[in-house]
Amino acid sequence: MKGIFLTIEGLDGAGKTTQVKLLQDWFREQGYDPLFTREPGGTKAGDVIRNLLLSREYTGLTSVAEALLYVASRAQLVAEVIRPALAQGRLVVCDRFVDSSIAYQAYGRGLPRDFVEEINRLATGGLLPRLTILLDLEPALREERLNRQGRPARDRLEAENGAFYTRVREGYLALARENRDRIKLIPARHSIEEVHRQVLEHITRIL
Ligand code: TYD
Repeated sequence: MKGIFLTIEGLDGAGKTTQVKLLQDWFREQGYDPLFTREPGGTKAGDVIRNLLLSREYTGLTSVAEALLYVASRAQLVAEVIRPALAQGRLVVCDRFVDSSIAYQAYGRGLPRDFVEEINRLATGGLLPRLTILLDLEPALREERLNRQGRPARDRLEAENGAFYTRVREGYLALARENRDRIKLIPARHSIEEVHRQVLEHITRIL
């Protein structure tokens, strides 16, 4: 595969959306034409799965059902969008990928990690990003930020408690320790500009 695959990860509230927006602008200014996509969703079937997963109507989803739905959305995205774009030599940037499954479903929900890894391998055919930017945020700071914004929980997962996010973050930190070459951690408590600068530092190194 000729293209380059990048992903962005982090707790909800870490500023992922802002950084993706800044990155889009930067790529445009530099004359690159990357494909930006996000999970869950990014395909027609995936967007239906996204609504199901994030809607607060379905509070009774079991952890296994939830894990399989995220992975179903991912399988579709990899087959329909990511692999074809990489085969054309494009740069692909994805907001969340397999690391989210491991952090949220294995560490957060407590599913066995090897189960979560196995279903992801099936869904992706073993595709891994060349570089993953992890915006790392302490859960306490996350709550403080969301409270300051007066932002109510937007979806089913944001309504989870602090202990859940502490476990998710531990998952991300474990992944970062195990994959030092691929996953680059950036403390999200820095200013937006400083985080953006560090993101670019990692990205320009691999372009
Ligand atoms: P997202 O739309 O990226 O929300 P945010 O912009 O707040 O980060 O993600 C939706 C939620 O889905 C988020 O709480 C994380 C969760 N999620 C998982 O639990 N597992 C997964 O595999 C993915 C991709 C997301």
